[in-house]
Amino acid sequence: MFGRKKSTTQIDKDQLELLENAQKRIKQKRGLYVHFILFLIGSVFLILANTVLGIGKEFTFLGKEWFLFAILIWLFFLIYHVFNVFVTNKFMGKAWEKKQMEKLVSKQQIRIDKIKEGLIKEETLIAQSDLQPETTKKTKNKKSVLTIIVAAAENNTIGKDNKLIWHLSDDLKRFKSLTNGHHIIMGRKTFESFPKPLPNRTHVVITRQTDYKAPDGVIIVNSLEDAIDACKNDSQPYIIGGGEIYKQAIGIADKIELTRVHENFEGDAFFPEINELAWREISNTFHDKDENHVLSFSFITYEKK
Ligand SMILES: NC(=O)c1ccc[n+]([C@@H]2O[C@H](COP(=O)([O-])OP(=O)(O)OC[C@H]3O[C@@H](n4cnc5c(N)ncnc54)[C@H](OP(=O)(O)O)[C@@H]3O)[C@@H](O)[C@H]2O)c1
Repeated sequence: MFGRKKSTTQIDKDQLELLENAQKRIKQKRGLYVHFILFLIGSVFLILANTVLGIGKEFTFLGKEWFLFAILIWLFFLIYHVFNVFVTNKFMGKAWEKKQMEKLVSKQQIRIDKIKEGLIKEETLIAQSDLQPETTKKTKNKKSVLTIIVAAAENNTIGKDNKLIWHLSDDLKRFKSLTNGHHIIMGRKTFESFPKPLPNRTHVVITRQTDYKAPDGVIIVNSLEDAIDACKNDSQPYIIGGGEIYKQAIGIADKIELTRVHENFEGDAFFPEINELAWREISNTFHDKDENHVLSFSFITYEKK
């Protein structure tokens, strides 16, 4: 609005020039055609005037009737006109028109190439955004750090018969201190594995059931996306399991707080493999067995690369 220049490109000037010249050319050719028709009619009229009406019958030159010379003179002017249209104005001849066309085509080609380039860039961006899961797209502008917290055996087992397999008090303490005051997102089965909701945390339970009943204060949602949405005012919501939810969340989480239990266990719930191409280990603290811990384990923190 303010001082924005209207863009007039070279291509527009060229097109205008070509158009004007084409109009001139049409006018010239039309003029020549009219002249030719008038010449034919005029010649017939002169012949009739002399031969039928007898006008100037007495005038002859070199033994020929005058109308012959009149027609010849007119023919000379007609030829001059033809010469003028097709030879004198040769700057607008076929070669000139071809050159102009080539110039225009090449400029249009440059323009088409630029548009194509823009379209390809746009398509690439759309394709890249299509590759991201829907939840990522909707939550990518979030400022919060979506954090997975999990304790997993060496073989990634996290539970059996809807129960935890081990009891590691320092791990529970860490879980408590990290999640304290935050939203904790979990699958319905994990929620049901607790005797009662954990204090000082907002529980967000994911279920496909539309009539799922839970104690007051527990937020029930029907998708992971809605669960994340329910935590939008929390700077660090935690995904606390179980296996099904971890699997869906690992692609969109920003951080993983893993307790790696240094043992293999049989079970029926598992943590997904951590892809080292996608995650960077930023800290690793080993905790040996002791009188309170029958297993050794490590606290490992990963950040999304
Ligand atoms: N070691 C650890 O750190 C840790 C942490 C947490 C849990 N666990 C263990 O993990 C086990 C439980 O894990 P799990 O995989 O069996 O179950 P889960 O992930 O806790 O819950 C699964 C349920 O969540 C709901 N759900 C999952 N995806 C959904 C979606 N996209 N939309 C709507 N609802 C969805 C469904 O509920 P509905 O069937 O109601 O539709 C589904 O049956 C237990 O053994 C538990 O002790 C271990």
